[in-house]
Amino acid sequence: MSDHVYIADIARCEGQEVLLKGWLYNRRSSGKLHFLQVRDGTGVIQCVVFQGDVTPEVFERAGHLTQESSISVTGTVRADRRSPIGFEVGVRGLEVVQMAYDYPITPKEHGTAFLMDNRHLWLRSSRQHAILCVRSEIIQACRDYFNDRGFVLVDAPILTPAACEGTTTLFETPYFEEKAYLTQSGQLYMEAAAMAFGRVYCFGPTFRAEKSKTRRHLTEFWMIEPEVAYMDLDGDMDLAEDFVAYVVGRVVERRRSELQFLERDVSKLEAVKKPFPRISYSDAVDILKGKGVAFTWGDDLGGDEETVLAGAFDRPVLVHRYPAACKAFYMKADPVDSRLALCVDVLAPEGYGEIIGGGQREDCLETLEAKVVEHNLPGEAFAWYLDLRRYGTVPHAGFGMGIERTVAWICGLKHVRETIPFPRMLQRLYP
Ligand code: 4AD
Ligand code: MG
Repeated sequence: MSDHVYIADIARCEGQEVLLKGWLYNRRSSGKLHFLQVRDGTGVIQCVVFQGDVTPEVFERAGHLTQESSISVTGTVRADRRSPIGFEVGVRGLEVVQMAYDYPITPKEHGTAFLMDNRHLWLRSSRQHAILCVRSEIIQACRDYFNDRGFVLVDAPILTPAACEGTTTLFETPYFEEKAYLTQSGQLYMEAAAMAFGRVYCFGPTFRAEKSKTRRHLTEFWMIEPEVAYMDLDGDMDLAEDFVAYVVGRVVERRRSELQFLERDVSKLEAVKKPFPRISYSDAVDILKGKGVAFTWGDDLGGDEETVLAGAFDRPVLVHRYPAACKAFYMKADPVDSRLALCVDVLAPEGYGEIIGGGQREDCLETLEAKVVEHNLPGEAFAWYLDLRRYGTVPHAGFGMGIERTVAWICGLKHVRETIPFPRMLQRLYP
Protein backbone atom coordinates (compact mmCIF):
# COMPACT_ATOMS: atom_id res chain seq x y z
CA MET A 1 0.00 0.00 0.00
CA SER A 2 1.13 3.53 -0.66
CA ASP A 3 1.55 6.19 1.98
CA HIS A 4 -0.19 8.81 -0.11
CA VAL A 5 -3.80 9.50 -1.07
CA TYR A 6 -5.14 9.58 -4.63
CA ILE A 7 -7.18 12.62 -5.61
CA ALA A 8 -10.04 10.32 -6.67
CA ASP A 9 -10.32 9.21 -3.01
CA ILE A 10 -10.03 12.69 -1.50
CA ALA A 11 -13.68 12.92 -0.41
CA ARG A 12 -12.96 10.29 2.27
CA CYS A 13 -10.30 12.52 3.79
CA GLU A 14 -12.21 15.72 4.55
CA GLY A 15 -10.64 17.51 7.49
CA GLN A 16 -7.57 15.25 7.48
CA GLU A 17 -3.96 15.95 6.68
CA VAL A 18 -2.94 14.06 3.51
CA LEU A 19 0.08 13.47 1.31
CA LEU A 20 -0.49 13.87 -2.47
CA LYS A 21 1.99 12.84 -5.14
CA GLY A 22 1.65 14.19 -8.64
CA TRP A 23 2.52 16.87 -11.14
CA LEU A 24 1.83 20.58 -11.41
CA TYR A 25 -0.89 21.10 -14.01
CA ASN A 26 -1.13 24.86 -13.67
CA ARG A 27 -0.25 27.65 -11.26
CA ARG A 28 -1.66 31.08 -10.51
CA SER A 29 -0.15 33.40 -7.92
CA SER A 30 -1.45 36.56 -6.30
CA GLY A 31 0.31 38.26 -3.39
CA LYS A 32 0.26 35.98 -0.38
CA LEU A 33 -1.33 33.06 -2.26
CA HIS A 34 -0.24 30.47 -4.79
CA PHE A 35 -2.96 28.34 -6.35
CA LEU A 36 -1.50 25.05 -7.57
CA GLN A 37 -3.57 22.79 -9.80
CA VAL A 38 -2.13 19.39 -8.98
CA ARG A 39 -2.93 16.26 -11.00
CA ASP A 40 -2.03 12.70 -10.07
CA GLY A 41 -3.61 10.62 -12.85
CA THR A 42 -6.84 10.09 -10.91
CA GLY A 43 -7.93 13.71 -10.88
CA VAL A 44 -6.97 17.37 -10.51
CA ILE A 45 -7.27 19.31 -7.25
CA GLN A 46 -6.50 22.88 -6.28
CA CYS A 47 -3.82 23.15 -3.59
CA VAL A 48 -3.73 26.57 -1.95
CA VAL A 49 -0.41 27.81 -0.54
CA PHE A 50 -1.05 30.67 1.91
CA GLN A 51 2.06 32.52 3.02
CA GLY A 52 0.91 32.51 6.63
CA ASP A 53 0.56 28.69 6.70
CA VAL A 54 3.99 27.62 5.40
CA THR A 55 7.68 28.26 5.87
CA PRO A 56 9.24 30.99 3.70
CA GLU A 57 11.13 28.24 1.77
CA VAL A 58 7.93 26.39 0.89
CA PHE A 59 6.20 29.62 -0.18
CA GLU A 60 9.18 30.53 -2.37
CA ARG A 61 9.35 27.01 -3.85
CA ALA A 62 5.64 27.06 -4.71
CA GLY A 63 6.05 30.40 -6.48
CA HIS A 64 8.71 29.00 -8.78
CA LEU A 65 7.00 25.73 -9.68
CA THR A 66 6.83 25.13 -13.42
CA GLN A 67 4.22 23.22 -15.43
CA GLU A 68 4.60 19.40 -15.16
CA SER A 69 7.16 19.53 -12.37
CA SER A 70 6.72 16.42 -10.23
CA ILE A 71 5.84 17.26 -6.63
CA SER A 72 4.55 15.91 -3.36
CA VAL A 73 2.24 18.04 -1.28
CA THR A 74 1.06 17.74 2.32
CA GLY A 75 -1.95 19.63 3.54
CA THR A 76 -5.46 19.55 4.92
CA VAL A 77 -8.47 18.58 2.83
CA ARG A 78 -11.36 21.03 3.05
CA ALA A 79 -14.71 21.18 1.30
CA ASP A 80 -14.98 23.91 -1.31
CA ARG A 81 -18.19 24.56 -3.19
CA ARG A 82 -16.43 26.26 -6.12
CA SER A 83 -14.24 23.24 -6.81
CA PRO A 84 -15.35 20.88 -9.59
CA ILE A 85 -14.53 17.97 -7.27
CA GLY A 86 -15.89 19.64 -4.14
CA PHE A 87 -12.60 19.85 -2.23
CA GLU A 88 -9.31 21.70 -2.09
CA VAL A 89 -6.13 21.28 -0.08
CA GLY A 90 -4.67 23.87 2.28
CA VAL A 91 -0.94 23.31 1.80
CA ARG A 92 1.49 22.81 4.73
CA GLY A 93 4.47 21.26 2.99
CA LEU A 94 5.76 20.90 -0.56
CA GLU A 95 8.63 18.83 -1.97
CA VAL A 96 9.88 18.97 -5.53
CA VAL A 97 10.71 15.59 -7.08
CA GLN A 98 11.90 17.20 -10.30
CA MET A 99 11.58 20.67 -11.77
CA ALA A 100 10.41 20.43 -15.40
CA TYR A 101 11.62 23.20 -17.68
CA ASP A 102 10.09 24.25 -21.01
CA TYR A 103 7.25 21.72 -21.11
CA PRO A 104 6.25 21.94 -24.77
CA ILE A 105 2.45 21.79 -24.37
CA THR A 106 1.43 25.08 -22.80
CA PRO A 107 -2.11 26.15 -21.95
CA LYS A 108 -2.26 28.10 -25.26
CA GLU A 109 -3.71 26.54 -28.44
CA HIS A 110 -1.54 24.10 -30.40
CA GLY A 111 -2.01 22.58 -33.86
CA THR A 112 -2.97 18.92 -34.20
CA ALA A 113 0.30 17.86 -35.88
CA PHE A 114 2.29 19.33 -32.97
CA LEU A 115 0.07 17.65 -30.42
CA MET A 116 0.31 14.32 -32.25
CA ASP A 117 4.13 14.59 -32.33
CA ASN A 118 3.92 15.10 -28.57
CA ARG A 119 1.30 12.45 -27.99
CA HIS A 120 3.42 10.93 -25.18
CA LEU A 121 2.96 14.20 -23.25
CA TRP A 122 -0.44 15.18 -24.62
CA LEU A 123 -1.90 12.17 -22.76
CA ARG A 124 -1.51 14.23 -19.56
CA SER A 125 -4.10 16.81 -20.60
CA SER A 126 -7.53 16.69 -18.97
CA ARG A 127 -9.29 16.20 -22.29
CA GLN A 128 -7.16 13.25 -23.41
CA HIS A 129 -7.43 11.85 -19.90
CA ALA A 130 -11.23 11.94 -20.08
CA ILE A 131 -11.29 10.29 -23.53
CA LEU A 132 -8.98 7.46 -22.51
CA CYS A 133 -10.94 6.85 -19.30
CA VAL A 134 -14.06 6.45 -21.45
CA ARG A 135 -12.12 4.07 -23.72
CA SER A 136 -11.10 2.02 -20.70
CA GLU A 137 -14.73 1.85 -19.55
CA ILE A 138 -15.93 0.79 -23.01
CA ILE A 139 -13.39 -2.03 -23.12
CA GLN A 140 -14.30 -3.21 -19.63
CA ALA A 141 -17.99 -3.07 -20.53
CA CYS A 142 -17.36 -5.16 -23.68
CA ARG A 143 -15.48 -7.78 -21.72
CA ASP A 144 -18.02 -7.88 -18.89
CA TYR A 145 -20.87 -8.23 -21.38
CA PHE A 146 -19.47 -11.42 -22.88
CA ASN A 147 -17.89 -12.80 -19.70
CA ASP A 148 -21.21 -12.49 -17.85
CA ARG A 149 -23.10 -14.32 -20.60
CA GLY A 150 -21.17 -17.55 -20.86
CA PHE A 151 -18.78 -16.58 -23.68
CA VAL A 152 -15.23 -17.94 -23.46
CA LEU A 153 -12.35 -15.60 -24.26
CA VAL A 154 -10.19 -17.20 -26.95
CA ASP A 155 -7.20 -15.20 -28.15
CA ALA A 156 -6.59 -15.05 -31.90
CA PRO A 157 -3.05 -14.92 -33.34
CA ILE A 158 -1.60 -11.67 -34.66
CA LEU A 159 0.79 -13.27 -37.18
CA THR A 160 -1.30 -15.10 -39.75
CA PRO A 161 -0.76 -16.92 -43.04
CA ALA A 162 -3.74 -15.40 -44.91
CA ALA A 163 -6.18 -12.54 -45.43
CA CYS A 164 -9.59 -12.39 -43.75
CA GLU A 165 -10.81 -9.03 -45.04
CA GLY A 166 -9.41 -8.78 -48.55
CA THR A 167 -5.87 -8.81 -49.85
CA THR A 168 -5.56 -5.07 -50.57
CA THR A 169 -4.98 -3.96 -46.97
CA LEU A 170 -2.52 -6.60 -45.76
CA PHE A 171 0.61 -5.72 -43.81
CA GLU A 172 3.22 -8.23 -44.85
CA THR A 173 6.18 -9.21 -42.72
CA PRO A 174 9.01 -11.73 -43.25
CA TYR A 175 8.53 -14.88 -41.19
CA PHE A 176 11.78 -16.88 -41.37
CA GLU A 177 11.67 -18.51 -44.83
CA GLU A 178 8.00 -17.59 -45.30
CA LYS A 179 5.78 -14.51 -45.44
CA ALA A 180 3.29 -13.66 -42.73
CA TYR A 181 0.59 -11.00 -42.45
CA LEU A 182 -0.55 -8.97 -39.47
CA THR A 183 -4.10 -10.04 -38.69
CA GLN A 184 -7.00 -8.02 -40.13
CA SER A 185 -9.52 -9.79 -37.90
CA GLY A 186 -9.64 -12.74 -35.49
CA GLN A 187 -12.85 -14.00 -37.05
CA LEU A 188 -11.64 -17.13 -38.84
CA TYR A 189 -10.00 -18.33 -35.62
CA MET A 190 -13.15 -17.51 -33.66
CA GLU A 191 -15.10 -19.74 -36.04
CA ALA A 192 -12.77 -22.60 -35.11
CA ALA A 193 -13.16 -21.70 -31.43
CA ALA A 194 -16.98 -21.51 -31.67
CA MET A 195 -17.01 -25.12 -32.87
CA ALA A 196 -15.01 -26.01 -29.75
CA PHE A 197 -16.60 -23.76 -27.11
CA GLY A 198 -20.00 -22.72 -28.53
CA ARG A 199 -19.87 -19.03 -27.63
CA VAL A 200 -16.54 -17.22 -27.82
CA TYR A 201 -15.01 -13.82 -28.26
CA CYS A 202 -11.60 -12.34 -28.88
CA PHE A 203 -10.33 -8.86 -28.24
CA GLY A 204 -7.11 -7.59 -29.69
CA PRO A 205 -5.32 -5.30 -32.07
CA THR A 206 -6.00 -5.73 -35.78
CA PHE A 207 -4.16 -4.21 -38.72
CA ARG A 208 -5.13 -2.81 -42.09
CA ALA A 209 -2.77 -1.15 -44.51
CA GLU A 210 -5.36 1.53 -45.25
CA LYS A 211 -3.99 4.04 -47.69
CA SER A 212 -6.97 6.29 -47.06
CA LYS A 213 -6.64 9.40 -44.91
CA THR A 214 -10.08 9.63 -43.36
CA ARG A 215 -11.26 10.51 -39.90
CA ARG A 216 -12.48 6.92 -39.41
CA HIS A 217 -9.44 4.87 -40.43
CA LEU A 218 -6.43 3.73 -38.46
CA THR A 219 -3.86 1.19 -39.61
CA GLU A 220 -3.88 -0.43 -36.16
CA PHE A 221 -7.16 -0.63 -34.29
CA TRP A 222 -8.74 -2.81 -31.61
CA MET A 223 -11.66 -5.05 -32.29
CA ILE A 224 -13.93 -7.18 -30.10
CA GLU A 225 -15.28 -10.17 -32.00
CA PRO A 226 -17.93 -12.59 -30.70
CA GLU A 227 -18.76 -15.76 -32.61
CA VAL A 228 -21.59 -18.18 -31.80
CA ALA A 229 -22.33 -21.70 -33.07
CA TYR A 230 -25.95 -22.45 -34.02
CA MET A 231 -26.75 -18.72 -34.39
CA ASP A 232 -28.24 -17.20 -37.55
CA LEU A 233 -28.32 -13.62 -38.87
CA ASP A 234 -31.37 -12.69 -36.78
CA GLY A 235 -29.66 -13.95 -33.64
CA ASP A 236 -26.55 -12.02 -34.63
CA MET A 237 -28.55 -8.80 -34.98
CA ASP A 238 -30.21 -9.37 -31.58
CA LEU A 239 -26.78 -9.87 -30.01
CA ALA A 240 -25.25 -6.78 -31.64
CA GLU A 241 -28.21 -4.64 -30.57
CA ASP A 242 -28.21 -5.85 -26.98
CA PHE A 243 -24.43 -5.48 -26.77
CA VAL A 244 -24.30 -1.90 -28.09
CA ALA A 245 -27.18 -0.80 -25.84
CA TYR A 246 -25.36 -2.32 -22.84
CA VAL A 247 -22.00 -0.71 -23.61
CA VAL A 248 -23.50 2.76 -24.12
CA GLY A 249 -25.60 2.41 -20.95
CA ARG A 250 -22.54 1.43 -18.91
CA VAL A 251 -20.52 4.44 -20.04
CA VAL A 252 -23.39 6.85 -19.41
CA GLU A 253 -23.81 5.36 -15.94
CA ARG A 254 -20.16 5.21 -14.90
CA ARG A 255 -18.42 7.94 -16.90
CA ARG A 256 -20.95 10.73 -16.96
CA SER A 257 -18.52 13.28 -15.58
CA GLU A 258 -15.96 12.53 -18.31
CA LEU A 259 -18.68 12.81 -20.97
CA GLN A 260 -19.80 16.12 -19.52
CA PHE A 261 -16.20 17.36 -19.43
CA LEU A 262 -16.00 16.49 -23.15
CA GLU A 263 -19.23 18.49 -23.64
CA ARG A 264 -20.96 15.42 -25.01
CA ASP A 265 -24.73 15.72 -25.30
CA VAL A 266 -25.50 12.79 -22.99
CA SER A 267 -29.21 12.86 -23.85
CA LYS A 268 -28.29 11.58 -27.34
CA LEU A 269 -26.61 8.56 -25.72
CA GLU A 270 -29.51 8.03 -23.34
CA ALA A 271 -31.73 7.58 -26.41
CA VAL A 272 -29.69 4.51 -27.42
CA LYS A 273 -32.23 1.95 -26.19
CA LYS A 274 -33.46 -1.28 -27.75
CA PRO A 275 -35.00 -1.93 -30.22
CA PHE A 276 -32.76 -0.43 -32.92
CA PRO A 277 -34.23 0.01 -36.40
CA ARG A 278 -33.35 -2.77 -38.87
CA ILE A 279 -33.38 -2.07 -42.58
CA SER A 280 -32.17 -4.05 -45.57
CA TYR A 281 -29.54 -2.69 -47.92
CA SER A 282 -32.31 -2.25 -50.51
CA ASP A 283 -34.36 -0.19 -48.01
CA ALA A 284 -31.21 1.85 -47.42
CA VAL A 285 -30.87 2.54 -51.14
CA ASP A 286 -34.49 3.75 -51.20
CA ILE A 287 -33.88 6.05 -48.22
CA LEU A 288 -30.79 7.49 -49.93
CA LYS A 289 -32.66 8.08 -53.17
CA GLY A 290 -35.54 9.65 -51.23
CA LYS A 291 -33.03 12.11 -49.78
CA GLY A 292 -31.72 12.98 -53.23
CA VAL A 293 -28.42 11.04 -53.00
CA ALA A 294 -27.27 9.65 -56.37
CA PHE A 295 -26.63 5.98 -55.63
CA THR A 296 -26.75 2.77 -57.67
CA TRP A 297 -28.00 -0.51 -56.21
CA GLY A 298 -24.95 -2.75 -55.96
CA ASP A 299 -22.42 -0.15 -54.85
CA ASP A 300 -21.00 -0.34 -51.34
CA LEU A 301 -22.13 2.26 -48.83
CA GLY A 302 -19.36 4.78 -48.21
CA GLY A 303 -18.88 7.10 -45.27
CA ASP A 304 -21.04 9.82 -46.81
CA GLU A 305 -23.96 7.48 -47.49
CA GLU A 306 -23.66 6.04 -43.97
CA THR A 307 -23.90 9.54 -42.52
CA VAL A 308 -27.06 10.32 -44.49
CA LEU A 309 -28.67 7.00 -43.54
CA ALA A 310 -27.81 7.22 -39.86
CA GLY A 311 -29.17 10.78 -39.86
CA ALA A 312 -32.64 9.32 -40.43
CA PHE A 313 -32.59 7.64 -36.99
CA ASP A 314 -31.97 8.66 -33.37
CA ARG A 315 -30.24 5.42 -32.45
CA PRO A 316 -27.92 2.97 -34.19
CA VAL A 317 -29.39 1.40 -37.32
CA LEU A 318 -28.75 -2.18 -38.46
CA VAL A 319 -28.35 -2.49 -42.22
CA HIS A 320 -28.57 -6.12 -43.36
CA ARG A 321 -28.28 -8.10 -46.60
CA TYR A 322 -25.79 -6.12 -48.67
CA PRO A 323 -24.98 -7.34 -52.17
CA ALA A 324 -22.58 -10.27 -51.75
CA ALA A 325 -20.17 -8.62 -54.20
CA CYS A 326 -19.48 -5.82 -51.65
CA LYS A 327 -18.60 -8.25 -48.89
CA ALA A 328 -15.96 -10.77 -47.82
CA PHE A 329 -15.69 -14.34 -49.17
CA TYR A 330 -16.92 -16.06 -45.99
CA MET A 331 -20.42 -14.51 -45.97
CA LYS A 332 -23.35 -16.89 -46.38
CA ALA A 333 -25.59 -16.14 -49.35
CA ASP A 334 -29.25 -15.30 -48.63
CA PRO A 335 -31.28 -18.40 -49.57
CA VAL A 336 -34.12 -16.09 -50.67
CA ASP A 337 -31.97 -14.04 -53.07
CA SER A 338 -28.48 -15.35 -53.79
CA ARG A 339 -27.23 -11.90 -54.88
CA LEU A 340 -27.36 -10.91 -51.21
CA ALA A 341 -25.15 -11.81 -48.25
CA LEU A 342 -26.57 -12.62 -44.80
CA CYS A 343 -24.56 -9.81 -43.26
CA VAL A 344 -25.18 -6.81 -41.02
CA ASP A 345 -23.45 -3.51 -40.41
CA VAL A 346 -24.36 -1.33 -37.44
CA LEU A 347 -24.20 2.38 -38.23
CA ALA A 348 -23.83 4.74 -35.30
CA PRO A 349 -25.99 7.87 -35.19
CA GLU A 350 -24.76 11.47 -35.58
CA GLY A 351 -22.52 10.72 -38.56
CA TYR A 352 -20.13 8.26 -36.91
CA GLY A 353 -20.70 5.56 -39.54
CA GLU A 354 -20.10 1.83 -39.31
CA ILE A 355 -19.04 0.60 -35.89
CA ILE A 356 -19.90 -3.09 -36.36
CA GLY A 357 -19.57 -5.48 -39.30
CA GLY A 358 -20.63 -9.11 -39.16
CA GLY A 359 -23.08 -11.75 -40.25
CA GLN A 360 -23.79 -15.41 -40.79
CA ARG A 361 -20.91 -17.45 -42.20
CA GLU A 362 -20.98 -19.80 -45.17
CA ASP A 363 -21.25 -23.24 -43.60
CA CYS A 364 -21.33 -25.44 -46.72
CA LEU A 365 -17.95 -26.95 -47.66
CA GLU A 366 -18.46 -26.97 -51.45
CA THR A 367 -19.80 -23.41 -51.59
CA LEU A 368 -16.94 -22.12 -49.44
CA GLU A 369 -14.33 -23.96 -51.52
CA ALA A 370 -15.75 -22.29 -54.62
CA LYS A 371 -15.63 -18.86 -52.87
CA VAL A 372 -11.95 -19.29 -51.97
CA VAL A 373 -11.18 -19.97 -55.65
CA GLU A 374 -13.47 -17.15 -56.85
CA HIS A 375 -11.72 -14.64 -54.56
CA ASN A 376 -8.25 -15.84 -55.71
CA LEU A 377 -7.27 -16.81 -52.18
CA PRO A 378 -4.37 -19.23 -51.62
CA GLY A 379 -5.96 -22.66 -51.03
CA GLU A 380 -3.16 -23.98 -48.76
CA ALA A 381 -3.56 -21.14 -46.28
CA PHE A 382 -7.29 -21.86 -45.96
CA ALA A 383 -7.16 -25.67 -45.70
CA TRP A 384 -7.61 -25.56 -41.92
CA TYR A 385 -10.58 -23.18 -42.28
CA LEU A 386 -12.28 -25.54 -44.72
CA ASP A 387 -11.83 -28.38 -42.20
CA LEU A 388 -14.36 -26.56 -39.99
CA ARG A 389 -16.98 -27.24 -42.73
CA ARG A 390 -15.78 -30.81 -43.17
CA TYR A 391 -16.08 -31.98 -39.57
CA GLY A 392 -19.45 -31.15 -38.05
CA THR A 393 -20.32 -27.89 -39.79
CA VAL A 394 -23.20 -25.88 -38.29
CA PRO A 395 -24.85 -22.52 -38.97
CA HIS A 396 -22.91 -19.83 -37.09
CA ALA A 397 -22.54 -16.08 -36.96
CA GLY A 398 -20.64 -13.28 -35.28
CA PHE A 399 -19.46 -9.72 -35.65
CA GLY A 400 -16.62 -7.35 -34.94
CA MET A 401 -16.93 -3.97 -33.23
CA GLY A 402 -14.15 -1.44 -33.71
CA ILE A 403 -13.27 0.11 -30.35
CA GLU A 404 -11.92 3.39 -31.72
CA ARG A 405 -14.99 4.27 -33.79
CA THR A 406 -17.13 3.39 -30.79
CA VAL A 407 -15.04 5.69 -28.57
CA ALA A 408 -15.29 8.48 -31.19
CA TRP A 409 -19.07 8.14 -31.25
CA ILE A 410 -19.61 7.88 -27.50
CA CYS A 411 -17.23 10.78 -26.74
CA GLY A 412 -18.47 12.83 -29.71
CA LEU A 413 -15.03 13.23 -31.36
CA LYS A 414 -14.53 14.24 -34.96
CA HIS A 415 -11.50 12.04 -35.60
CA VAL A 416 -10.42 8.57 -34.41
CA ARG A 417 -6.85 9.75 -33.76
CA GLU A 418 -7.74 10.88 -30.22
CA THR A 419 -9.51 7.63 -29.33
CA ILE A 420 -6.41 5.43 -28.96
CA PRO A 421 -3.36 6.16 -26.80
CA PHE A 422 -0.81 5.99 -29.66
CA PRO A 423 -2.57 6.13 -33.04
CA ARG A 424 -1.08 4.48 -36.12
CA MET A 425 -2.15 6.04 -39.41
CA LEU A 426 -0.90 6.36 -42.97
CA GLN A 427 1.55 9.10 -41.99
CA ARG A 428 1.96 8.43 -38.29
CA LEU A 429 4.28 5.88 -36.69
CA TYR A 430 5.73 8.26 -34.05
CA PRO A 431 5.79 8.36 -31.08
O1 4AD B 1 -16.38 -4.64 -41.13
P1 4AD B 1 -15.07 -5.24 -40.74
O2 4AD B 1 -13.98 -5.23 -41.77
O3 4AD B 1 -15.40 -6.72 -40.26
C1 4AD B 1 -14.51 -7.67 -39.93
O4 4AD B 1 -13.32 -7.53 -39.82
C2 4AD B 1 -15.15 -8.98 -39.56
N1 4AD B 1 -14.19 -10.06 -39.83
C3 4AD B 1 -15.55 -8.94 -38.09
C4 4AD B 1 -16.27 -10.20 -37.67
O5 4AD B 1 -17.31 -10.50 -38.19
N2 4AD B 1 -15.74 -10.88 -36.69
O6 4AD B 1 -14.51 -4.50 -39.45
C5 4AD B 1 -15.28 -4.49 -38.26
C6 4AD B 1 -15.22 -3.15 -37.58
C7 4AD B 1 -15.78 -2.01 -38.40
O7 4AD B 1 -17.18 -1.94 -38.29
C8 4AD B 1 -15.10 -0.81 -37.76
O8 4AD B 1 -15.72 -0.46 -36.53
C9 4AD B 1 -13.73 -1.37 -37.43
O9 4AD B 1 -13.86 -2.77 -37.35
N3 4AD B 1 -12.74 -1.00 -38.44
C10 4AD B 1 -11.85 -0.01 -38.32
N4 4AD B 1 -11.63 0.88 -37.33
C11 4AD B 1 -10.64 1.78 -37.48
N5 4AD B 1 -9.84 1.83 -38.56
C12 4AD B 1 -10.00 0.95 -39.58
N6 4AD B 1 -9.19 0.98 -40.63
C13 4AD B 1 -11.06 -0.03 -39.49
N7 4AD B 1 -11.50 -1.03 -40.29
C14 4AD B 1 -12.52 -1.60 -39.63
MG1 MG C 1 -17.20 -3.49 -42.58
